[in-house]
Amino acid sequence: MNTPRLELVWPGKEKFLLLPKDDAGKPVWVERDHPAASEVRLADFVGSVGEVPEVPYAANLLFTGDSLDVLRILCEVPEYRAIYRGKVKLVYIDPPFNTGQAFEHYDDWMEHSTWLSFMRERLLLIRDLLSPDGSVWVHLDDAEQHRMRLLMDEVFGPANFVTTVIWEKADSPRNSARQFSSDHDYVLVYSRDGNWSPNRLPRTADSDSIYTNPDDDPRGPWLPGDPYANKPYSKGLYEKTGPTGRVFTPPPGRFWRISEEKLDALDSEGRVWWGPTGNARPSIKRYLSEVADLVPRTIWSKEDVGSNRTSKNEMRAIFAGVSSFATPKPERFMERVLRIATQQGDAVIDCFAGSGTTAAVAHKMGRRWVTVELSPSTVEQFTLPRLTKVVAGEDPGGITKSVGWEGGGGFRTVTVGPSMYEDTTFGILLAGWATNGRFARAVAGQLGFEFQKEAAPLCGVRGRMRLAVVDGAVGPEEVRLIVGALGEKERVTIVAKSVLPEAESTLTDISPGSRIRKAPRDLLTSGARRMRRRTEASPRHTSNETEGSGS
Ligand SMILES: C[S@@+](CC[C@H](N)C(=O)[O-])C[C@H]1O[C@@H](n2cnc3c(N)ncnc32)[C@H](O)[C@@H]1O
Repeated sequence: MNTPRLELVWPGKEKFLLLPKDDAGKPVWVERDHPAASEVRLADFVGSVGEVPEVPYAANLLFTGDSLDVLRILCEVPEYRAIYRGKVKLVYIDPPFNTGQAFEHYDDWMEHSTWLSFMRERLLLIRDLLSPDGSVWVHLDDAEQHRMRLLMDEVFGPANFVTTVIWEKADSPRNSARQFSSDHDYVLVYSRDGNWSPNRLPRTADSDSIYTNPDDDPRGPWLPGDPYANKPYSKGLYEKTGPTGRVFTPPPGRFWRISEEKLDALDSEGRVWWGPTGNARPSIKRYLSEVADLVPRTIWSKEDVGSNRTSKNEMRAIFAGVSSFATPKPERFMERVLRIATQQGDAVIDCFAGSGTTAAVAHKMGRRWVTVELSPSTVEQFTLPRLTKVVAGEDPGGITKSVGWEGGGGFRTVTVGPSMYEDTTFGILLAGWATNGRFARAVAGQLGFEFQKEAAPLCGVRGRMRLAVVDGAVGPEEVRLIVGALGEKERVTIVAKSVLPEAESTLTDISPGSRIRKAPRDLLTSGARRMRRRTEASPRHTSNETEGSGS
């Protein structure tokens, strides 16, 4: 019997959320066998900026399209999958917060259930993309962060919750607020694996300023460290006489942190401080030169990482005279995320790009990036020109000076194609554009074959299985021609729009193990199977979180 598990449920959770095609429509839930629930769309490279590697999939990528389509492309299309699946070090997303507002450049309008379905579908794919030492950071405010925490527990596993970062976003109170003026956002951080460890942050003048050197110690500034500990220690109970003859013992219930011999040795080296007159309780000096970089903390102040005002100013500096993108994030804020979660050369994804802050900062910090924005006008007005300026070294703001960025590198622009299916009163049909080469490419992506342009009558490969796509009917003649093109030990999957009598029996006779699939019917079933596997792969909750298990 399946033990019930603790999880957030909502109406429509088991179905697929179909987003409207235009602003006038409303999202609806459809059954999981609907083509949109599993379709892997075509992605077309449309341009490039600056210098890009020869393998187009490995370039920095700016996609115009829906994050769900792009995440599926990265997970399923072999050319992308080889580079991204299980290999992405950081996914940072700043999705619509579901605040009920219509921003100038996008709407933020969903019901809680719709928003949860929208996010769950994307998180399941994000989980597949993360590397074992990767992490996902989700930026939210009070509208949904508590629901998102439960959803992320379900998708990533409660044991992989790392922390909630609180970002001080406001510079000043908003006196028009009905109840409280909100000063902060949240960023929920989960790791792919429980062993994740964040990078430490470089020390700052501020963190160093608490170290002083009142006795001109040649080892430099130090902090007085507590000589006592709470943990019982067999060599931790003794009397110590200071330079003025005063005798010290640990307070009741506490112990010396180190043995008497060790304390004497440190004292003889000048590493113990007895106060300005030599009469105070001893402190063990902790030298600035010997302390490690800083462990990240959970409250990020506007002084340290900038506020909403900072990011609006950064936007104005890049786009003089244009009304700012509604919700950009400051570059220093993103820099901190990237410092904690990545190293040079690591792959970073942000699939809610907006003005492109994540990509801009990742680029300046030498990380590889993929970013996705739904709105073509946002891409045209903000994301693309901003990233173009970064490449050209024409963006003097944000972290440019502090990281010494002077321009360089490049990226490709990619668009996501339309659906290859049409939902009609006669059932699901193939769209009119799905013919010839585009049909073959779409089928290859859908079934996880690497597309091969110059191999007719074959057009794809997956291990020893080849793909042949027939834009019409397949009969025994076509089957013989296709099988004749196979190498030794190779098998073929033939996809055709219709299958004539005897095609299947001919194939079984001359190439056992090969098969024929009819489009669109069989493409849809294989997609639905793939998606079911992904949804079912959610980490199990541990037994003490299982409802009804008692304790
Ligand atoms: C809060 S903004 C992100 C701001 C970004 N962090 C920045 O610094 O500029 C959210 C963005 O997600 C975009 N968006 C909304 N739904 C999307 C989807 N399904 N796929 C991709 N982008 C989407 C919106 O158009 C908007 O630009």
